[in-house]
Amino acid sequence: MNRRKTILVTGGAGFIGSHVVRRFVKNYPDYLIVNADKLTYAGNLENLKDIEAKPNYVFTKIDIVNKQAIQDLFRNYVFDGVIHLAAESHVDRSITGPDEFVFTNIVGTVNLLNTALHSWQGDFREKLFYHISTDEVYGSLGSEGKFTEETPYDPRSPYSASKASSDHMVRAYHHTFGLPTIISNCSNNYGPNQFPEKLIPLAINNIKNSRPVPVYGKGENIRDWLYVEDHAAAIDLIYHKGITGDTYNIGGNNEWRNIDLINLLCRIMDKKLGRPEGTSQKLITFVKDRPGHDLRYSIDSSRLQEELGWKPIPDFEAGLEKTVDWYLSNSAWLENIISGDYERYYDSMYSGR
Ligand code: NAD
Ligand code: TYD
Repeated sequence: MNRRKTILVTGGAGFIGSHVVRRFVKNYPDYLIVNADKLTYAGNLENLKDIEAKPNYVFTKIDIVNKQAIQDLFRNYVFDGVIHLAAESHVDRSITGPDEFVFTNIVGTVNLLNTALHSWQGDFREKLFYHISTDEVYGSLGSEGKFTEETPYDPRSPYSASKASSDHMVRAYHHTFGLPTIISNCSNNYGPNQFPEKLIPLAINNIKNSRPVPVYGKGENIRDWLYVEDHAAAIDLIYHKGITGDTYNIGGNNEWRNIDLINLLCRIMDKKLGRPEGTSQKLITFVKDRPGHDLRYSIDSSRLQEELGWKPIPDFEAGLEKTVDWYLSNSAWLENIISGDYERYYDSMYSGR
């Protein structure tokens, strides 16, 4: 049968998903990319304005928790692969309201697994269910060491626990039913289109508006930052060349203490906004720490680099500058988001801190 490849991307209107959809639509004109997204507060079709009219792209508004909707989708298309990104993704929201994380991240993933399994009916040739996950499933590190693909799971927030559960279900479907699956676990992403509840876009937005920049605790927590297009490139590589049943770690080899990162961002923003050096730094405000705040994440991505030849961009400052430029020149995108809902979220999250 000479049919073009049809790939379901879930969560394609979100931050990372939109970069993945754009990359696949542009790089693979012979594929059909079906983007299924519920359009929660984090999903935004403006992220995909530039490709929405492409003939190899379709959007469909679907809640992955809705079993019937997923089954209908798999009846309408014969999918060769699934790249599953749809999730509730913000740790702070998982602390104030874990339920949605259980519904979308666990139940939604199981709905997709069941439907793919049923629809592919044991004929798994050329099929792949690729689940996108996070390094947070491995828990928190002290000052030494890195997460490898063999590190035991030790999730500590409702977000990471829900992602760990979904990873376990994906592995269970591989081992029990033979479903061809791959999982990748990635470190913190940054770049254009990230919702301004996460550290970097929140800080950019606040600095731009001369608002306090909240740093949790003493700002000593460490994250490994990866430019989002590098993640999308890794997903492309793993989708096409990864070994079925396996796991790949993805990371930038780029660890920063939050306070050092914010200081660098302040310097970049002063320069870009033409403000005297030190202006933005005065906005830094230490606030009450996040409960159960993981101290450090660090990921060893040597397997992906050595086996599949992937490499992240080496220059974090350049990536951060590019990100700041994008936010400053896309103020309409930001203004559309900074609606009543965002203000309410912001007040509830930060007013007591
Ligand atoms: P995001 O919050 O920006 O986007 C999530 C998308 O999923 C949104 O478009 C939203 O509308 C959609 N969605 C949420 N619930 C849904 C549902 N029930 N049905 C259908 N769609 C739904 O998230 P992101 O930062 O782009 O993360 C994408 C994936 O990558 C997630 O699985 C996340 O766990 C993982 N991840 C993120 C990071 C990071 O730094 N952001 C790092 C590693 C892994
Ligand atoms: P975040 O972007 O929420 O990602 P994650 O919690 O998944 O790593 O936060 C990154 C780090 O920044 C984390 O250590 C928490 C911290 N942080 C702040 O200090 N202030 C903030 O306002 C936010 C949102 C996060």
